[in-house]
Amino acid sequence: MTVIAFHNLGFSAARDMYAGVNFSLNRGERLGVVGNNGIGKSTLFRCIAGETGPGEGEVVLARNQQIIMVSQEVPDDLLKLTMFEALLDGLPPAERDYDSWKIDVLLDEIAAPMDHRDRKVGDLSGGWQRMVMLGRCSLSQAEIILLDEPTNHLDLAKILWLENWINSLPPTRTVAMISHDRLFLDNCTTCTLFLRVGESKNFNFPFSKAADFLAQHDEEAQILADKTNVKLKKMEQSAHKLRQIGVDHFSEKSLRKSIQIQKKAEMLKDTLPELEREERRDITLSNRDTHQKYMIEINNIQVSDPNDTPLFGIEKLVMAKGERLVLFGKNGAGKPQFIELLNRQLKLQREDRVKGLHIAATARTCYLDQHLSFLPQGFTVFEQVKDVCDILDDRCRSLLINAGFTLPMQKVKIASLSPGERLRLALVCFRLRTPNLYFFDEPTNHLDIAGQILLEEQINSINATCIIISHDRRFVENVGNRFAMINGKKLEDIKAPETFYQILRANAV
Ligand SMILES: Nc1ncnc2c1ncn2[C@@H]1O[C@H](COP(=O)(O)OP(=O)(O)OP(=O)(O)O)[C@@H](O)[C@H]1O
Ligand SMILES: [Mg+2]
Repeated sequence: MTVIAFHNLGFSAARDMYAGVNFSLNRGERLGVVGNNGIGKSTLFRCIAGETGPGEGEVVLARNQQIIMVSQEVPDDLLKLTMFEALLDGLPPAERDYDSWKIDVLLDEIAAPMDHRDRKVGDLSGGWQRMVMLGRCSLSQAEIILLDEPTNHLDLAKILWLENWINSLPPTRTVAMISHDRLFLDNCTTCTLFLRVGESKNFNFPFSKAADFLAQHDEEAQILADKTNVKLKKMEQSAHKLRQIGVDHFSEKSLRKSIQIQKKAEMLKDTLPELEREERRDITLSNRDTHQKYMIEINNIQVSDPNDTPLFGIEKLVMAKGERLVLFGKNGAGKPQFIELLNRQLKLQREDRVKGLHIAATARTCYLDQHLSFLPQGFTVFEQVKDVCDILDDRCRSLLINAGFTLPMQKVKIASLSPGERLRLALVCFRLRTPNLYFFDEPTNHLDIAGQILLEEQINSINATCIIISHDRRFVENVGNRFAMINGKKLEDIKAPETFYQILRANAV
């Protein structure tokens, strides 16, 4: 039974988005939706959930199917509730009085720390905020489940919980999930929809296999297009010659023949396959030179939360230029607080600085926090870049075009950008600030697969010095050259990420 069908679905904004999508999803299927940042994946889900109109075409839903969506960003109305209240609010109103025990069971199942349960969602770590949204979803009985980038911010233990939850749902329930996490898609999906500017394609396979088929499809389309174009050129040449002969020798027969060939060529042109247009979307980082060998030196410091509750201690940590330290720790262990401490230290007067924490005098930092809070929502894309660096308008425009921001998009307010586009804009700003010490908190959240690969290449090729927080196993392996984990309220060096993964698996929620 078809539960969701798209007929000629399209959408347009300041950039090229998907168009002419025809697709149907059957009950019980597990769909992966994949596509570049800003192509319109979240918009598509909002159309299915009825939060926005479809633009062009239509979305048809089976009758009496309840839909629940876990959105890509935390809805404002959840932020003010406590973790417990937010989950309780996820139960149908009639059940809230009698079935509140279900919340306690769920909180135990996801191993929510006791002191988190009465904390406001807005004060929780990104990972726990997402768990609240997923927990609400797991309490619902809706037949259609839409998950928009559900693994963002989750640590490995929670990703395993999520995979397990999806895979144990009964076949009466249909799940569609947007994700850039290749491993997660392979583990949880049965079919894949690639949303693209040219031709969107779907395959009845999980991501990796579907991606191979897509590559094969594109290759075949290119070969066919090349052959057809050669044929077309020959036909056009013949038509031209015949027309010339017709004109020169007053031959009606030649003129007629020339028109016939031209008509055939027009028909052949209609059969030309649509080729996917490669969008130009560069990611370039810069690295300011410094004579300093060591960028950070730490001796006996304590990392605390904003209420001064100690989170973990660091006995000794010396970070040399070119090191890319990946920081591991469970959600809520205090990783961002450590980076915030480093970032704050640079802004403090000498006498107010934390003792035992030394950052090189020549350090110039860029901090990519999870919420990209340094980007003012009310600025346009163009205004933001001009604000970071005093460059000529033309240079600003061309920098942005190379980064994937078309001229109309440069006039769009930051608040209207998709999360992935916002992240790409943040990276353009970083490039202009020419740092020599990067702090990255979950840089691959929201970034599409092509973007992840480019970011990895850039970090490695400029030999950036970075502290990285990431739960993305591939990214960590590709860029990290030093690893440390928060264990038992202490930061300790580890040889490889596997040490941390093993501990996580052993204590899996
Ligand atoms: N309210 C809005 N006003 C104007 N443009 C919008 C609005 N919402 C989305 N857009 C634009 O529509 C495009 C698609 O946005 P959408 O959030 O659907 O992309 P996405 O594929 O989910 O991207 P990402 O991978 O970054 O999450 C973006 O260019 C975005 O700027
Ligand atoms: Mg999105």
